[in-house]
Amino acid sequence: SLRAREHLPLQGKRVLITAGPTHEPIDPVRYIANRSSGKQGFAIAAAAAELGAEVHLIAGPVQLPTPTGVHRHNVETAREMAAAVDAALPADVAILVAAVADWRTADSAQQKIKKTGGVLPALRLTENPDILAGLATDARRPELLIGFAAETENVIAHAQAKLARKGCDWIVANDVSGPNGQSVMGGSDNAVHIVTRDGVESWDSLPKDQVARKLMEKIADAVR
Ligand code: CTP
Ligand code: CA
Repeated sequence: SLRAREHLPLQGKRVLITAGPTHEPIDPVRYIANRSSGKQGFAIAAAAAELGAEVHLIAGPVQLPTPTGVHRHNVETAREMAAAVDAALPADVAILVAAVADWRTADSAQQKIKKTGGVLPALRLTENPDILAGLATDARRPELLIGFAAETENVIAHAQAKLARKGCDWIVANDVSGPNGQSVMGGSDNAVHIVTRDGVESWDSLPKDQVARKLMEKIADAVR
């Protein structure tokens, strides 16, 4: 009912979320990718919509259903993701969960690359735009700007360095080597550390949808 909606904590707020991997073409049939499933980002989009936000989800190539009430924009490459983020601004909150490919090929082939008698093709790479760092210095910078960091060692130290380097407000860090050696990427649980300039809050491993709800409640408190 209308009356119930008035009490939702993110009513009237625009929330921008990136999720999933990006694919960077090598030739028409091959690409560079990573193991991101998009599950955590999609769960965060669902939780933001449940709290009443207007949610814009910029999704890399994943086969996940669009959460109820979420505006989804599908992209393939990092440059397409950067353009879609730009087009979705302004936003009150941005949560960049996507595992953006750091590199793309400097010159992707127009035709399928063929084997040529033992001569190996060389992939020349070039760096992709950093969407998070770009948002941090944008005139339309969201009031609350949050990055994610997947690390395999020194999780908190790397996250603190990343917070400073990227100019965002929070880094949600997780150890993708995972508790008990399980894999987080593609899995359904996630143990995260919320790293801010005020300190570190570490949460026990939870299903990704519960991490999402808890994170969105913390965000709602911060922008209230
Ligand atoms: N990110 C981004 N654009 C990129 C790379 C990363 O927006 N080209 C965002 C991610 O969505 C994430 C945060 O930046 O929110 C941190 O990503 P991460 O890959 O951990 O950081 P990098 O600076 O790429 O460092 P690393 O060398 O550890 O990969
Ligand atoms: Ca990276």
